[in-house]
Amino acid sequence: MTSKPVHVACIMDGNGRWARKRGLPRTAGHTAGEETLSDVVRAASKREIDYLTVFGFSTENWVRPRAEVKHILGLHKKLFGRISELNENNIRVNWIGRPFDEVGSQTPVYVQRAIRKAIQDTADNTGMVLTVAFDYGSRAELTRAAQNLVKSGQSLNAENLSKYLYDTSLPPVDVLVRTSGESRISNFLLWQISNAKIYFTDRPWPDFDAVELDAALALINN
Ligand code: FPP
Repeated sequence: MTSKPVHVACIMDGNGRWARKRGLPRTAGHTAGEETLSDVVRAASKREIDYLTVFGFSTENWVRPRAEVKHILGLHKKLFGRISELNENNIRVNWIGRPFDEVGSQTPVYVQRAIRKAIQDTADNTGMVLTVAFDYGSRAELTRAAQNLVKSGQSLNAENLSKYLYDTSLPPVDVLVRTSGESRISNFLLWQISNAKIYFTDRPWPDFDAVELDAALALINN
């Protein structure tokens, strides 16, 4: 008997507040957030998690101050560059977001390259799939899916619509984590979380750890 894949999704919120509390610039919070993510990815790959999907950068995040956007983009390059670490842990990198060649996409070429390279260099791994949502928004995903479905001439139903999501291989989310005391979904994976449990924690993302991850996982079968 094959069991259903386990899918955990994370909205990594609170980097700015974590930094402010320490008298540091917001960028220091994002830097700490990227390090936490790398730890959480490793911890997740050692647990019964088949898919980990994280909200790295949203379609709404482009309006942040230029210097902050540039810093966050640099951190994505750093994350996607952690190839040997990812390979050591048998993790396959994946990405969802506005396709680079479509109208509206804002992903700079150097981030596109980092994403493509990480996907290619980890393609043979058979363990956990790490999906980074970059330039991602659920409304954009669903609008595009609906448009493509209409264009295809197939009938408009849930099964057919799901064929036009950014990544049709992603299973439904089992548990959605949101850090830093916010209890909102913020346009993340609206279709995929239709039956998910939700784990809200007051901890800001840089303080999220394996103990919190286990608490989120414990919700799945309760
Ligand atoms: C929320 O903190 C986080 C983001 C805007 C996304 C960026 C996430 C990271 C840099 C973590 C590492 C992830 C990757 C994929 C490199 P916030 O700025 O909204 O915090 P605030 O609400 O306290 O201001």
